Amino acid sequence: MKILLVCLGNICRSPMAEGILRDMIQKQGLAHTTDSAGTGDYHVGEAPDERAVRSMRSHDIDISDLRARQIRPSDFHDFDLLLAMDASNLKNMLAIAPNEGSKKKARLMMDHAPARALREVPDPYFGGDEGFEQVYRMLTEACNNLLNDETR
Ligand code: 4NP
Repeated sequence: MKILLVCLGNICRSPMAEGILRDMIQKQGLAHTTDSAGTGDYHVGEAPDERAVRSMRSHDIDISDLRARQIRPSDFHDFDLLLAMDASNLKNMLAIAPNEGSKKKARLMMDHAPARALREVPDPYFGGDEGFEQVYRMLTEACNNLLNDETR
């Protein structure tokens, strides 16, 4: 399965999600592949936000190799599952889906963490380090459940 993680800037939440999922896939010896993208183009070509890199490094995951790109309609062909960090990202993704059928591939990341009160991964960009830690915990739970759901 090919999984695309999507947020707004592709420098905070979706590279963290990609890093967490990539690490789990590798440790579990699974064949899934990952990528991430932003609905916006503000940070195309940039490495993840340094606070995201630092937060992930504190959990022994390196995401410094990732580079931001913008989502494109062909991603709906190239990926099996497109996971949005928040409702605004999902709405903007669906607006560029090439056809009705491909829209079924897109959903909210936190749909995979039904026990959590928050349905959206909060944007940590304008906050402090604790926001990145909260994002890490939410994404870890969702990614764990996602892989359990897909490999069952
Ligand atoms: P992300 O966070 O969507 O989690 O990558 C953001 C990064 C940058 C901006 C907004 C959100 N920005 O407005 O530049």
